[in-house]
Amino acid sequence: MAWCWCRWRRWRRWCRWRRVLLCVCTPCISLALLLVYIMLFLAMHSLSAVYNQENVHFVASGTLRNESFAKTFWNLNMHGDAIWNHLQLTIDRQFNPILRPKNITRGFEDGTFYEQGFSEVTDVKRKVSQLPQQMQEFVSSMQKRDYATVLQPDGACGAGAEQEKEPPLLLMAIKSTESHFKNRQAIRQTWGRAGWVAGQKWNSRDGGYVRRVFLLGKEDTEELGVDSSEFLQMESKRYGDILQWDFRDIFFNLTLKDVLFWSWFSRSCSRTRFVFKGDDDVFVNTPVMLTYLKDQLKKPQAHKTMEDFMVGDVIAAASPKRDNKSKYFIPDSFYKGLYPMYAGGGGVVYSGLLAKRLHNMSKRVNLFPIDDVYVGMCMFWLNTHPVHHPAFLTFDFPIKEEVELCSYHTILLVHKRSPHQVVQLWANMKKTKAQCWDVPLRETDKKKTQL
Ligand SMILES: *[C@@H]1O[C@H](CO)[C@@H](O)[C@H](O)[C@H]1NC(C)=O
Ligand SMILES: *[C@@H]1O[C@H](CO)[C@@H](O)[C@H](O)[C@H]1NC(C)=O
Ligand SMILES: *[C@@H]1O[C@H](CO)[C@@H](O)[C@H](O)[C@H]1NC(C)=O
Ligand SMILES: *[C@@H]1O[C@H](CO)[C@@H](O)[C@H](O)[C@H]1NC(C)=O
Ligand SMILES: *[C@@H]1O[C@H](CO)[C@@H](O)[C@H](O)[C@H]1NC(C)=O
Repeated sequence: MAWCWCRWRRWRRWCRWRRVLLCVCTPCISLALLLVYIMLFLAMHSLSAVYNQENVHFVASGTLRNESFAKTFWNLNMHGDAIWNHLQLTIDRQFNPILRPKNITRGFEDGTFYEQGFSEVTDVKRKVSQLPQQMQEFVSSMQKRDYATVLQPDGACGAGAEQEKEPPLLLMAIKSTESHFKNRQAIRQTWGRAGWVAGQKWNSRDGGYVRRVFLLGKEDTEELGVDSSEFLQMESKRYGDILQWDFRDIFFNLTLKDVLFWSWFSRSCSRTRFVFKGDDDVFVNTPVMLTYLKDQLKKPQAHKTMEDFMVGDVIAAASPKRDNKSKYFIPDSFYKGLYPMYAGGGGVVYSGLLAKRLHNMSKRVNLFPIDDVYVGMCMFWLNTHPVHHPAFLTFDFPIKEEVELCSYHTILLVHKRSPHQVVQLWANMKKTKAQCWDVPLRETDKKKTQL
């Protein structure tokens, strides 16, 4: 079309200029575009190099909540008026690779970033004073994690450390309290036995070394009525499986057991392949668990999948309990948004490698009063999530299923069972093993498909 215009005389001059312009400018524009392209490429390349080197992921603040992405992407202060969200935003900003590309190269060695940020929360005093008493206490000690160790196992890794040919396959880390001696004793004699434990299949190569450690805080002597510390010392000496820290052992402090355990694990137990972390009122099918874990290690690409390996009873898109009578009550002035995917705290299994990554990442995530949600948060900040397995029954068997002969052989864990029941169940497992040893693990959530 354009050339047609040039046939008319009065356009001729303009056309001549246009050709000159085209000759001069086209290379210039191409060159500029090329330069921009090269610069972009270099910038991306250096950013991805930083990521690979540090093995950290950036998670845009706001994406945690299940709302439309476009909305959250531009809103820097997403839920920023809630105390926890605001504190976390101040940390996230420090590690935002776009805002502060230099900071991301910093490792985790000097990382105690959760100690910052309180001064930035507007109106923090008034907000805290309106929280329930327990929450207030939580917030006031939220930035402290360096509690002293009262008791810890002598050898590496807790009970059972002997001359062994291979690293432990599984460490049982069990949340307990000073007064739960009966629970601990039942576990020691049954599913938590340390040393070499055979798997479910009847061959000598199936199985592995198991370790055990109980995670304790300090119970109120007044509430307890007696001072049990001397007794606990004896127990620790006898069994070598007590790991106790000097903080108040109450529900809102359970998260401390995770972060302090990860720290101890990274120092003392770091060669262990898997960690079981759970309550002292559960029943674990240890032989089947060992076989299941060994199978995971045999899968192709296992060394890669182990980076993110966490299985349990997974809860997705849960919202915080807003009813102030609930044990899990979280007011919206403290936390807003949904919880990330998390595995129910009754019992969960993850790889030792992931435990070490969680230890690092936890330094960049503020404590949260509910421990299993907190682990889910750390997973989210690692840019991953736990995987659901129907053999973890943290809400017990569906009706009728339990009475079947081999029911307990199809599960990895069930909550909740008394010490007496645990001992009985263990004996029963031995009795039914010949008939049930090859039943497969539960594969579907009958409970959930019925809904
Ligand atoms: C990130 O950089 C800012 C200034 O560039 C600095 O004030 C801040 O302390 C750094 N944070 C970390 C975690 O390195
Ligand atoms: C944890 O951080 C330390 C210090 O930055 C680093 O040496 C180590 O490799 C990290 N561990 C994992 C599993 O990422
Ligand atoms: C957790 O333990 C510490 C140390 O004993 C205590 O100061 C804090 O108040 C406890 N947290 C709660 C929520 O009670
Ligand atoms: C987000 O919420 C919608 C309904 O509000 C739900 O259907 C969807 O499954 C949720 N997505 C995730 C990832 O939880
Ligand atoms: C719970 O909430 C109700 C209504 O908001 C309030 O009247 C009551 O005092 C609260 N109870 C506690 C224990 O905070």
